Amino acid sequence: MTLPAPVRSAAEFAFRTTGARVRASKRVTRWVFGLDLASRKRPVLWDLALLALRHELPRAMGDAQRVLEVGTGEVGVLSLVVARALPWLDVHAVDVNPHFVECAHENAVRNGVRVNFFVSDLFNGVNGDFDVIYSAPPYVPRAWGEAHRHRGGDPNCVWDGGEDGLDLVRRLAVDAPAYLAPGGRLLIATSDFYHHPDDVLPAFGGYDVESRRPSAWNPTRLWVLSRPGTDRENLS
Ligand SMILES: C[S@@+](CC[C@H](N)C(=O)[O-])C[C@H]1O[C@@H](n2cnc3c(N)ncnc32)[C@H](O)[C@@H]1O
Repeated sequence: MTLPAPVRSAAEFAFRTTGARVRASKRVTRWVFGLDLASRKRPVLWDLALLALRHELPRAMGDAQRVLEVGTGEVGVLSLVVARALPWLDVHAVDVNPHFVECAHENAVRNGVRVNFFVSDLFNGVNGDFDVIYSAPPYVPRAWGEAHRHRGGDPNCVWDGGEDGLDLVRRLAVDAPAYLAPGGRLLIATSDFYHHPDDVLPAFGGYDVESRRPSAWNPTRLWVLSRPGTDRENLS
């Protein structure tokens, strides 16, 4: 379901003002994610994509054993939630921003959760292959972000998806196959607020594609991508 533009703008505004107060509360964050987070300079700890993925990811892991998050953010919430919900998983998580990786690691230690956080520009510091690679990459179109949203706020690496917002989405789709185990899946979050699904789909040429909105009120869209002909059974 795509909401009319004025309704989307009102919802976006409400989320960014009232929502920001709620999201800035460590108590609310503890209640939503069950995590005790280290103090940060910037108060907003999570967004709608994170909220959607927090419910979807543990279910989407299937029989995965080794998983990787690309772009784990300053808190590392998703990977902490996944690692705590599925403690047998070998969870790795990277970010291009060294400060984010340091904070995420601090949160892991604080919460007694085992995640291997390390610095990498997409996959350039990554070794081996993974049953699931997941990412909520920066997907805001640059002009929109500069005009509306991010002046003086988050660093560009958090939101700037290039001219049409899909630069990182495309790079992930191109580079991921070299790091996917046989039968592995790539999960990417985008937002219908910024992109019609038909505009995102061409980024996923060569993949079998499933896409869904986990909830009608949340514009987050989850893309589940796999390479045809690489099922575990076909390769054994
Ligand atoms: C939209 S934020 C998502 C953060 C976190 N997953 C969350 O949901 O809160 C995008 C993240 O991707 C990271 N990022 C941007 N470009 C990257 C790159 N080339 N390689 C790795 N991480 C990158 C940013 O630093 C940021 O933490």
